[in-house]
Amino acid sequence: MLFGSSSKKFVGIDFGTRSIKIVEIENSKGEANLVNYGQVVLDKEKDLLEEKYDGDYSNLLKKALGVLLKKMKLSSKKVSVAIPAFNGLVMVADFPIMTEEELAKAIKYESRKYIPASLDDVNVSWEIIKDSKSEEEGNNGKMKVLLVAAPKTEVQYYDALLKGTGLEVELLELETFSLARILSRNFKGENLMLVDVGAKTTNLVLMVNNSVRINRNIDVGGIDLTEAISDNMNISSKRAKEMKESGKNLFSGSLALKFPSVDYMISEMKRMIKLQGIGSLDNIIVAGGSSEMVGFLDYLQKQLNFPVEKADPMKYIKSKFKNKSGQLVGLDSSYCVAAGLAMHGIDDK
Ligand SMILES: Nc1ncnc2c1ncn2[C@@H]1O[C@H](COP(=O)(O)OP(=O)(O)OP(=O)(O)O)[C@@H](O)[C@H]1O
Ligand SMILES: [Mg+2]
Repeated sequence: MLFGSSSKKFVGIDFGTRSIKIVEIENSKGEANLVNYGQVVLDKEKDLLEEKYDGDYSNLLKKALGVLLKKMKLSSKKVSVAIPAFNGLVMVADFPIMTEEELAKAIKYESRKYIPASLDDVNVSWEIIKDSKSEEEGNNGKMKVLLVAAPKTEVQYYDALLKGTGLEVELLELETFSLARILSRNFKGENLMLVDVGAKTTNLVLMVNNSVRINRNIDVGGIDLTEAISDNMNISSKRAKEMKESGKNLFSGSLALKFPSVDYMISEMKRMIKLQGIGSLDNIIVAGGSSEMVGFLDYLQKQLNFPVEKADPMKYIKSKFKNKSGQLVGLDSSYCVAAGLAMHGIDDK
């Protein structure tokens, strides 16, 4: 007879630029149940931490994390953490068809061709893209390999952030792959674009046959949307943020404004599609807090002419949490990275 439970809990922590988000998921016979979730806003102005911001960002993160952990009382000790996309590199390179062992050697000796840093300073992982071998003839005997690199200092950075919390980093991955894990689940089409519009940055991920092909991280996000409203309407940033979150459509109709940051996002998406020689996208899934902005998704759809939908992490996770009116509630689209991290416990265990 076996004692103990067969279920296990998994925690994902997303250190965003606006907030830290944590999701805890339980693997119950292969199904994902939401156990716990929460976020803390990194507001330098507000006295959340009961003392003034001293200019040390990692100190602010550490303190904010402490506040959130105290509130959440996680039951797991091992956690998965996301590395911001702008701190990593994702690329697909062609290699002659060879075995995995040969490939490992080739990458070790030829990494400089692909990665602009020494292997002493970066961690590199790789994966042969499925099906690329079977296209042998069309590919002139080549296979496509996904290479992912992140600075080794990231490991030390997150270890230091978690020091003293009782938590331990079990998995550290680029947020791009956390997003892909949750948002491309059950996706049956061929070409998929994931767009995570955060506060400061937007992560664009192009996937082909459920595997990441290219990743671009651009310096535009919710803050730029607020700024555009403030400039266009000649109102303060505070008022502009309220306006942005008011539910009014600022993309079309009588209040329609110009959002250069969104047009830049669109032009980058078009460039990525063109670079990969892709004719059309089967779907665009938009995550991040800014995806809540009314009219934004319709604008993307009109400009790009591909289907656009808002990311819903709860499509794959069961919730037991209810709001005051008794409706089931859970993670919104800003929790995709944290949810995707925790979901590794469903897929890999
Ligand atoms: N209802 C809403 N309407 C419009 N914008 C919103 C709404 N709710 C949140 N936002 C915006 O979403 C942004 C925060 O998104 P998110 O939580 O995904 O950011 P983050 O992950 O902390 O940032 P980053 O990914 O850039 O590090 C803010 O700019 C906020 O103003
Ligand atoms: Mg984010």
